[in-house]
This record gives sequence, C-alpha cells and structure tokens, in this order.
Amino acid sequence: MSLIVFGGSFDPPHRGHLRLLRAALRAVEGSRAAVVPAFRSPLKASCRASVEDRLALLRAALDEGLPGKLRERVSTEAFEARRGQMTYTYETLRFLKRRHPGVELHFLAGSDAAADLARWKNPREVAGAVSFLVGKRPDSRIPGRPPFGARFLALPGSFPKISSTKIRLRLMLERPVKRLLPRSVLALVKARGLYGLEILRRLESELKPGRYAHTLAVARHAAALAKRFGIDPERAALAGLLHDCGRAVEAGRMAAFARRKGLRVPAFEETAARQPMLLHAHISEFRARTIYGVSDFEILSAVRKHTLGDAVMSAFDRLLYAADASSPDRAYAGVGRIRDALREGLDEGFAESVRSKIAGIIEGGRWLHPSTAAVWDAALEHL
Ligand SMILES: [Fe+2]
Ligand SMILES: [Fe+2]
Repeated sequence: MSLIVFGGSFDPPHRGHLRLLRAALRAVEGSRAAVVPAFRSPLKASCRASVEDRLALLRAALDEGLPGKLRERVSTEAFEARRGQMTYTYETLRFLKRRHPGVELHFLAGSDAAADLARWKNPREVAGAVSFLVGKRPDSRIPGRPPFGARFLALPGSFPKISSTKIRLRLMLERPVKRLLPRSVLALVKARGLYGLEILRRLESELKPGRYAHTLAVARHAAALAKRFGIDPERAALAGLLHDCGRAVEAGRMAAFARRKGLRVPAFEETAARQPMLLHAHISEFRARTIYGVSDFEILSAVRKHTLGDAVMSAFDRLLYAADASSPDRAYAGVGRIRDALREGLDEGFAESVRSKIAGIIEGGRWLHPSTAAVWDAALEHL
C-alpha cells in the first residue's frame, strides 16, 4: 500500500492545497493520504490559528474539495497536534512507519518546499524514507539532480502559488478571499473569528463608522508600506487595526480613564487639561493589550507612540506613525508631501509626517506637547 503524507501548517488550508492533494491521489493509484497539520512548522513563524482550529478547517476543506471517491482515501493525522510540540518531518515519518509497517511512503510538497530539503532536520533520513510528489509552480523548477539522493516525482499539471500568509492578510484587511478559500473553510473562519476577524468585528461594533473606515484604511496602508520597507505586513496590519481602538472611549472620559488605569503619559496633567484627545494612543495600547489580547511588544509600542511619538522610534514605530498620517482617507493640506516622501523611503516619510504635524499645530495655534518636539529630533537622527 502507498501512503501519501501531506504535511504543512495549513494556516489556513486553501484551494492550492486541495489541488495538490487531488493530483497526488490520482497520480498514485490506490494510495491513501494522511494530512498532517504541524503543531508548529519548524521553518515558519508560529501559526496564527491553534492546531485544533486548523484540524477543523482541514476537515471542512477536504469534505468540500474532494469528490467522494477521493475523500474516502484521505484522513487527517493529529500526531503532531497531539504531541503538542514542534515536530520535525523525520519524526512524523518514523511514527507513520511504525503505525503502517511495510507501507510505501510518499511525501507531498510544493516545489519550493522540496527544494528547501537542505534546511530540513535529518534530510538524508527523510530522503531515504519517502519519495517526493512535487507540484510544480509556474515560476519554479524541480532540481535536476535532487540533493541527498532524494527521489522526486513531478505531478502532472501546474500549481498556482497560493499562500496562507497572503490569505491571512487579506482576511485581516477585509479583502475578498473567495477564489482562494473553499466556502466552508471561510464560513468556519468567520464563525470562529479566526485570523483577525474577531478583532474586526469588535472594532466595528465599538467605533463610529468613520473611525472604523479610517482604521481599515490605516491597516491597509501600513501593510502595503511594510511590504515595501521589508517589515512584516501582517504585524503592521494588526498595529494599524488597533491604533485607534482607544477612540472607543469618549473624549470627555479619556483623562479619567487614563488616570484610573494608571497610564503613564508624559506631561499627563497638562495633556489632560489642554488636549485630552492626545491621550487616546496610550488608551489604545492599554485596550489592545487587555481587551484585544495583543502581547507583541513592537505592536504595542507603535500603537502607543502613533500620536505623540517618542524620543526613541523603531522602524516599526515610524511605519505606523507615517501610515496614520498619510492613509488614503486623509485629505489635509500637506498629506501629498508625506506620500511623496514615503516614495523616497520610510525615514523621509516619517520625518515629513512629524514636520507636517508640528506645522499644523503651530499654524492652528494649538498647544505643542513636549514629546512632539522630541520626536522631531528623533526623526532628524534617522535622516
Ligand atoms: Fe490616533
Ligand atoms: Fe488614526
């Protein structure tokens, strides 16, 4: 008997996975397949949905995406999930060999995963234990002479590159994913509020419609800028989504809220008396942590610094600050100059954002918070 092992993060499982699996089942006659979601994929950052959620999504994907005859030949294998720790492929293969003695093992992979074999743990053992079934992507090649004596069999057809990372980002930014995700998977993602959908739902319910629209615009803009500047777009999007969640607290209650929670805002008393709205960024950080469950230090820092800034601004801090100042929904005089400066680079865009903010405050005859002066000096240091 032949067993096709299909491992991956499946975070979430998508149409590309199903296409690959269908082709593999048809290529190896009479085979069965075990789909093994990783507890945590060793080569990737930690998964965004729990392994229990991903198992449920996988079952929905298999039920919808495989014709009955093929579906009967496939099961999900929770070995890695049950172990509850990072598991290398060679460990999973040893387990499957013990469980199914004498079975011929195939390993199903996208062509880039297979080309990565040298980065796997114990590649020689893996190469000796399986033959690889490889779905060729339009832009990639299968190595002519595979490393470690591995056997590669190209599946007929070509397999478009669909990435779970891209799908997660699209979900988080309220962009359509119909062509990428099976319908039942999307329904389950929505029902369970995975991949940021719970956050979106809460934001939409607690912010005014205009503020929610701005939030989404900043998140999209931050993600696009992040891609351009080599920063993780998923985390930039999350920072964008949460940057104004403090605005759910009414302006008239911000000072009392910040005092009650003991938020440490520079020049707090003066700020509370003169411009309490400036407290909203610290309130956003507090709420992102306590209500939205974010613990990522960089995201929290950028949210906290997006209005007043700080003498120390990381690239991630600067990105959110500039994204908020120049999102497509902004129409104030001077926003075009920020966008132009961002085309030159992140530091140019950030400096122009700060300059524009200070100029606006002075022209409007408003109070200048001491941190805002410090952030100008910080901006100059990066230029
Ligand atoms: Fe804000
Ligand atoms: Fe904002």
